[in-house]
Amino acid sequence: MAIGPDLFDEIEALKKERNAIILAHYYQEPDIQEIADFVGDSLQLAQAAQGTKADVICFAGVHFMAETAKILNPGKTVVIPDLDAGCSLADSCPPDAFAAFKARHPHAKVITYINCSAGIKALSDVIVTSSNAERIVESFPPEQELIFAPDRNLGAWLSEKLGRKMILWDGSCIVHEQFSERKLVQLKVRNPDAEVIAHPECEASVLRHADFVGSTSALLSRVKASDRRSFIVATEPGIFHEMQRAAPEKTLLEAPIHGSCPTTGACNECPHMKRNTLEKVRDSLRDLSPAIDVPEPLRSRALQPILRMLELSR
Ligand code: 13P
Ligand code: SF4
Repeated sequence: MAIGPDLFDEIEALKKERNAIILAHYYQEPDIQEIADFVGDSLQLAQAAQGTKADVICFAGVHFMAETAKILNPGKTVVIPDLDAGCSLADSCPPDAFAAFKARHPHAKVITYINCSAGIKALSDVIVTSSNAERIVESFPPEQELIFAPDRNLGAWLSEKLGRKMILWDGSCIVHEQFSERKLVQLKVRNPDAEVIAHPECEASVLRHADFVGSTSALLSRVKASDRRSFIVATEPGIFHEMQRAAPEKTLLEAPIHGSCPTTGACNECPHMKRNTLEKVRDSLRDLSPAIDVPEPLRSRALQPILRMLELSR
């Protein structure tokens, strides 16, 4: 069904009525990115949540992002359009199992990717995102033993790039694991002038063919700044909306995935991110539900490593 202008007007009116802000991740559908007050990567969204004066935050992203916003803003109402918008990486790291893993390495500091639950954040020394991970890992002295969780691909990429051994948790992203090395090489051969850009959640077999690796915002900056005319992009295709808006003259090709997707033809879309719709954004602002709640003392414990990250990212 086509979305009429009424829905956009309704959302704008609700935003004013609630003194609300809409924060959206680059993987959200284009209409949500269009109506959002701010669109960004995980770090930029956490910074925006920390700085907002709004009473209500509607977080159009996945659960761990909205939860981070709530941890930073216990006095504000934080709603997510669809409460079931989860994340395979966050799900791959349950707090009980991670506590046992951590106990086996009592001298290690715990560096955790923001894609995890509040329970995991509370067990961490510092949080990172893909845009600040290198800097934060390097802030630890070389002799310091480090655990990195939950994404083994990002962890392995950092270890290799920084020449720094880390103890890795074995988690991964269902979206970024799907890209096929064999098909990527074939696509490169057919498009020899295209630059390959990839998110570090991709497997090493894909990252080794990338000319540039970075967070969603870094990939966007690369497309804008590069002299190349075409790009093979190995990440969730929601970012294409902003890339194409910022650089309409550039050609963007989706990195190919293993197999095919007979039902939707869009298996590299994040099924969690895509649970959110414009209608659900409207409903969440109207009903102030589903709201995120993080009970104490979990919230205070999870807050410390997030604040450390934000401090180290200034
Ligand atoms: P970014 O922080 O790079 O936007 O990544 C978020 C994410 O979930 C990637 O899968
Ligand atoms: Fe999680 Fe992967 Fe979706 Fe990002 S793309 S939210 S890491 S499942």
